[in-house]
Amino acid sequence: MRVLSGTKSTGDSLHLGNYFGALRQFVALQEKHEESLYFIADYHSMTTVRDAKLRRRYTMNVALDYLAAGLDPERAILFRQSDIPEVCELTWLLSSVTPMGMLERAHAYKAAMDRDENVDHGLFTYPVLMAADILLYHSDLVPVGQDQKQHIEMTRDIAQRFNHAYDCEALVIPEPYIIKDSAVVPGTDGRKMSKSYDNTIPMFAGKKQIKKAVMGIVTDSNSVDEPKDPAAHVFQLWNLFAQANEREEMAERARAGGLGYGDVKKDLLDRVLSYFSEMTARREHFEARPDEVEAILRQGAEKARAMATPVLDGCRLAAGLGS
Ligand code: TRP
Repeated sequence: MRVLSGTKSTGDSLHLGNYFGALRQFVALQEKHEESLYFIADYHSMTTVRDAKLRRRYTMNVALDYLAAGLDPERAILFRQSDIPEVCELTWLLSSVTPMGMLERAHAYKAAMDRDENVDHGLFTYPVLMAADILLYHSDLVPVGQDQKQHIEMTRDIAQRFNHAYDCEALVIPEPYIIKDSAVVPGTDGRKMSKSYDNTIPMFAGKKQIKKAVMGIVTDSNSVDEPKDPAAHVFQLWNLFAQANEREEMAERARAGGLGYGDVKKDLLDRVLSYFSEMTARREHFEARPDEVEAILRQGAEKARAMATPVLDGCRLAAGLGS
């Protein structure tokens, strides 16, 4: 089983939604499967980030987040997408078998059109680059959040079209691995936790920022004495850091009344800080050693390239390209 996934490098550091939605599962899968590849999708960041320095910083940030969370370069191949520019060649080969209509149905493209944004071709073709990411390494399993499911379906469709067009089996059809928990990480305002809603709780932004975010969780105006809804998002967030028996106890206390939201938040803050303390230390370790991180990414790229080259060669051969 070859497992592969990627993270777009478009922000400063990860938040709880990223961690519980994806990263935690990446780390778990690295234990279970013999081959895993996790990359930083810096080519994908180009549809939104238009500043070279910023892109480098964001790319480094994803690398640090990967390492902090426990992805281990001894067990998983960690690499930067743009270190293997062959993915762009495969994107072209795939583009030529991808129907326009399929891309026009892509959620991200449709949403941008609905918002009346200036949509460039990079955003339109984003799913083809993502298909190339997956197919270039003959990936079997792709762990992603629910929001990426459509992209995996397109990847399968595109791979089948290529194999069919050239009557070959140059590409492996991957399976999605939809991470179920990802839906249950609400943001501080109760909507899905997302940078675009400005409702995130960052993991590595320092105690002050984390405290600000946790204390800013929106709650109803029930007084301390009144009963509380144990399904409220402040409790959903707290539950992420609690054992099953603690959760039940908390739900009972909420229903009984006499529990103040301030106390819940303070306890949540303590739990967040202690949960991420080891990871924060690991992140600081690597942050102080950028050369070490760079070396890890280079070694990862070497291993990734060794997997990519025969796959791309197979596609070129099947399609009658090159000598
Ligand atoms: N599109 C994914 C996201 O926005 C990132 C990504 C790019 C990816 N290429 C990938 C994920 C390949 C899985 C496999 O989160």
